[in-house]
Amino acid sequence: MFSTEFIAFDSCTPQKAVTNDDLSLLVDTTDEWISTRTGIRERRISEGENTSDMCIKVAKGLLKKSSVSAEDIDLIIVATITPDFATPSTACMVQSAVGAVNAFAFDVSAACSGFVFAAGIADKYIRSGMCRNAIVIGAETLSKIVNWRDRTTCVLFGDGAGGALLSRSERNCYIAEDMHSDGSLGMQLTGGEAKVRNAFADPEEPDRRYLEMDGRTIFSFATRKVPASIRTLLEKASLTPDDIDWVVPHQANSRIVEVVAKKLDMPPEKFFMNIAKYGNTSAASIPIALAQMSDEGLLKKGQKVIISGFGGGLTWGSAIIEI
Ligand code: COA
Repeated sequence: MFSTEFIAFDSCTPQKAVTNDDLSLLVDTTDEWISTRTGIRERRISEGENTSDMCIKVAKGLLKKSSVSAEDIDLIIVATITPDFATPSTACMVQSAVGAVNAFAFDVSAACSGFVFAAGIADKYIRSGMCRNAIVIGAETLSKIVNWRDRTTCVLFGDGAGGALLSRSERNCYIAEDMHSDGSLGMQLTGGEAKVRNAFADPEEPDRRYLEMDGRTIFSFATRKVPASIRTLLEKASLTPDDIDWVVPHQANSRIVEVVAKKLDMPPEKFFMNIAKYGNTSAASIPIALAQMSDEGLLKKGQKVIISGFGGGLTWGSAIIEI
C-alpha cells in the first residue's frame, strides 16, 4: 500500500474584479444586502478566459512549484460543472497543453464538492500503486450559466480555478474522508440543463440553462450536513477538533460557515475565508483558498487541515489532509 502527499497548490482567477456596487447597476441590489447576507464584497468575472484556459495556467503553476515534469504526471482530474465542451474533457485539454503525454485524464461533475471528490479519487489511484503523480483541479466559469438578470443568484457566484499536485509518498497525508450525495434533493440547485431537442423531439419548455436554487433549503442543508460530516471525519481519524489547525470550507456563504463553526464548537478563526474577494466559485473555491494559504505561508508542514465541500447534486464531502 502507498500513501499520498500534497506537494503543491496553485490558483488562477480572472483579472476583472466586479464589486457589489458594480452589480447594483445591473440588478436591484445593494452592497449592504449582499455583504451582510453572504460576506461577499467582490468576485472575479471572466472577460473571455474559459475554464480550460484557467486550468492550464494552474497545471503549469503546479508543475513549476513542484519540479515534477509533465511526463511524470499519470493522472489529471478536473472537477467542473462549466467545462468548455462536453467532449473533449477539460482535463484532456490540460493534458495536451502541458504535454502530460503519459497521463490519463477526465472530468468529474460534483458541483461545489467536486474538488474534494476528485482529490479522493486521485488518492485511491496513488494508494493502489496505479499512479505516482496526479494533478487535481477545481475550476469554474460560472458566469456562463448565471442569469445576470436574477438578483437572487447573480450576486453569489464568481469564476476561477485552483488545484493541487498529489504524489506517492512515505508520508500519509490523506488521513480520512467522508463523502455523500442525496440526488432526491437535486432539483433544489440546478443549472446547464439540455433537454432532448432533435429531429423527433421538440419540448415546449425552455431549458433550465441558468443556475437556479432554493437558497433557504441549501442553507439549511449545508448547516446540517457539513457539521455532521466533519464530526464523522474526526471520529474516523480518531482526532478531536483541537487536533485540527485549519478548516477550509467551500466558500458559499460566510453565515453558513459561522453556523458550522458554532455547531462544532470550533473557533471561527480556524475557518479560512476568502469569500469577500471571490464569491462562490463552486469546485474552485477550496483549492483557490489552499493556494492562497500556501502562498501566504499559512500552511506549515505537519498541520492538519479539513477540506469540506457541499452543493449541487446535492453532494457533500470532507477530508482531513496533512500538509
Ligand atoms: N439584493 C437585494 N434583495 C435581494 C437579493 C439581492 N441580491 N436577493 C434576494 N433579495 C430579496 C428577496 O427577493 C427577498 O425579498 P422579499 O422578502 O421581498 O421576498 C429578501 O431579499 C429575502 O430573500 P431570501 O431568499 O429569503 O434571503 P436569505 O436570507 O435566505 O438569503 C441567500 C439568500 C441566497 C443569501 C441564502 O439563502 C443563502 O446563502 N443560501 C445558501 C445558498 C448557497 O450557498 N448556495 C450555493 C451552495 S453551493
